[in-house]
Amino acid sequence: MRGKVKDGATILDAARALGAGLETVCGGKGTCGKCKIKIEEGYFAKYRVNSSLASIKAIKATPEKLISKTQQKQGYRLACQSRICGDVVVFVPEESRKGQQVVRKEATARKIKLNPAVRKYYVELTPATLHDPLGDFERLQAELVKKHQLSNLTIDYPVLLKLQNTVRKENWKITVCVWKQKEIIDVEAGKRTEGYGLAVDIGTTTVAGYLCNLTTGEVLATEAMMNPQVAYGEDLMSRISYAVKAKDGLKKLNQVIIKGLNEIAAKAAAKEGIKRAEIIDMAVVGNTCIHHVFLGIDPAQLGRSPFVPAIHHSVDVKARDLGLKIAAGAYVHVLPNEAGFVGADNVGVLIAEEPYNQDEMVLIIDIGTNGELILGNRKKLLSTSCATGPAFEGAEIRHGMRASAGAIEKIKIDPETKEVQFKVIGDDRWNTEVKNIGAKGICGSGIFDAAAQMFLAGIIDKSGRFNKKLDTPRYRVKDNEPEFVIAKARETSIGHDIVVCQKDIRAIQLAKGAMYCGAKIMMNKLGIDRLDRVILAGAFGSYIDKMSAAVIGLFPDCDPERVYAVGNAAGDGARMALLNIDKRDEADLRARQVEYVELTVAPDFNSQFTKALTFPHAEDKFPHLKHLLPEL
Ligand code: FES
Repeated sequence: MRGKVKDGATILDAARALGAGLETVCGGKGTCGKCKIKIEEGYFAKYRVNSSLASIKAIKATPEKLISKTQQKQGYRLACQSRICGDVVVFVPEESRKGQQVVRKEATARKIKLNPAVRKYYVELTPATLHDPLGDFERLQAELVKKHQLSNLTIDYPVLLKLQNTVRKENWKITVCVWKQKEIIDVEAGKRTEGYGLAVDIGTTTVAGYLCNLTTGEVLATEAMMNPQVAYGEDLMSRISYAVKAKDGLKKLNQVIIKGLNEIAAKAAAKEGIKRAEIIDMAVVGNTCIHHVFLGIDPAQLGRSPFVPAIHHSVDVKARDLGLKIAAGAYVHVLPNEAGFVGADNVGVLIAEEPYNQDEMVLIIDIGTNGELILGNRKKLLSTSCATGPAFEGAEIRHGMRASAGAIEKIKIDPETKEVQFKVIGDDRWNTEVKNIGAKGICGSGIFDAAAQMFLAGIIDKSGRFNKKLDTPRYRVKDNEPEFVIAKARETSIGHDIVVCQKDIRAIQLAKGAMYCGAKIMMNKLGIDRLDRVILAGAFGSYIDKMSAAVIGLFPDCDPERVYAVGNAAGDGARMALLNIDKRDEADLRARQVEYVELTVAPDFNSQFTKALTFPHAEDKFPHLKHLLPEL
């Protein structure tokens, strides 16, 4: 693709403007090295362009750890740090291209009691005459009281504007949509029984929308997409900093997500053969940062101590005020936040799993860029969040990538020979069954497997250090750093080996240590030393191997039979709030009852965190893994 950009725009700006997907893990800060591109030099007759490195001005010097000196000489640069001041031809290497993320957010089968916030009521009015000249709205009000016992209803202004025509269109027969038995938010001519609502889970990386029938509760269509905000930073802190520092940053982040939701609504509606304007209710979950940006609220305070959100309580706002193109009078219900770092998505998980109605001690882990944990039962509930960093999503890992085609997602290592078998997304076969499976990198679930399998095969020890005595060509030391080859160059589409290096193992240890430490501090606070159940929430939780997660010590010991994935529970929570108004009240009530534990101020945080860095833990026993872990 080609195009014109303003003098001084970065190559990343140009890529965004032209719609070329580049990996931007750090959001353009020049620290992740994932946006690496190559400036081609010379005259390109095809484009009639003289391309030269002289047309690029670096914002800041590229550290060698991101692009080696040799590569820099060859013309490799960071797209986010290169300003264009002349004609250039840019080559985007395979590993810098943004793959289409596999969005794994199917709705799970849950029985949801129906009591929607918006209901449809059909009435037949007596036509107005000279002897009975009552206004259309008052006539409608009176009939709704008489037939459906709905009193004191108000009417939304744009709905009032279409009332006269609608009433007369089908001979004074009309269906009204009433929100919370308070307000008429839409009117339709004739008898209409079906009502549609959209439940949305806005994740840091992916967004999923579930179009539901409000009368039957059925999920009619599911639509998902990458969160378009990813282009402005993959993790929340990068987005907060973009919102705060970039010109119109908040506005841009807000607009892309609104545009994304309008697309989701349109596509889901089209699948069902209805119009987007027939969607009469919407419920949304997302973490606090997403919640704020979605509502156009400045997220700056979320990034500053004491990390308070603008609002804890749920919010009902007119969809049109946010720019959402569903029924003109419809509301969007945004679920409440628990704390600065525990948002409406966690509340979604809470009302879907209802640990507050159970006797068993349950640990719910929502794994993502930010790990969120809930621990407790009907007596008491604690929650916390820990910065796991993006390691589990494939970032900060030398050959890490998101879950898209070609990503290694499953790994087995023979403890004797140290030979590796792996599978990539988009292919059911093992690498050993084909000539070249075309691996591109390792995604989150592959990273869990890599760490667990390398530990079990004795390639790394409990402390995460490489065993220097390994006798396999897969082990080597490069630039003073030990690494283990998972995929050989001939098994990849990127032309070089895919390895797991010492730094990768450290990143995994930091991420898993943060999760374990969070669980442990909460367990100590509740005075318990045993978990009855562990629930892995989040779409990612469904794809990781639970034994790998247990072996690396993502959570304290628990019977593997009682560890299970529940899929996208946050999305299920949004669906429940959409379909049952009581769940909205429950969410507001329970969100305030959960006690938030700020890990960093816990007196034993440092010691707990250090102990949790060990595979699976420095001190804790794992009776349920005894047969697997010879060292314990
Ligand atoms: Fe350019 Fe991270 S270094 S996006």
